[in-house]
Amino acid sequence: ALERTFSIIKPDAVAKNVIGAIYNRFESAGLRIVASKMVHLSKEQAEGFYAEHSERPFFGALVSFMTSGPVMVQVLEGENAVLKNREIMGATNPAEALAGTLRADYAASIDENACHGSDAPESAAREIAYFFTAEEVCPRTR
Ligand code: CMP
Repeated sequence: ALERTFSIIKPDAVAKNVIGAIYNRFESAGLRIVASKMVHLSKEQAEGFYAEHSERPFFGALVSFMTSGPVMVQVLEGENAVLKNREIMGATNPAEALAGTLRADYAASIDENACHGSDAPESAAREIAYFFTAEEVCPRTR
């Protein structure tokens, strides 16, 4: 099915200057970027986005990392976009990520793991709405 998913290029990957390289992975896999912007998250924005992890031991480190520099946030559209993006990213822990995935190529650790992608269509809808208004998402007309 035609789906949308939400993606973040995290501060470590932005610092490595691989935004374009990562966008190329999305486009080469048939995903279209239908919304995109650079943001430097506030503590409140990061805490709100990751609220489901607020009781986890890594929450403080996660919020600190995600506010350490700018990120790129984007909406990707395509057939099975949620699963396809997760395949492009590889496992959360780069030590477990398959060769050729974003995490294998660009991530240093499970904490600084280059990218985020929604885990299901329902979370994608929530995460897209957290960062983008309906008008900011631009499906292709040609
Ligand atoms: P992300 O998909 O952005 O969602 C939450 C993030 O927490 C995750 O990627 C990891 O970067 C980070 N994290 C750190 N430790 C863990 C862990 N043990 N399990 C899951 N996520 C973790």
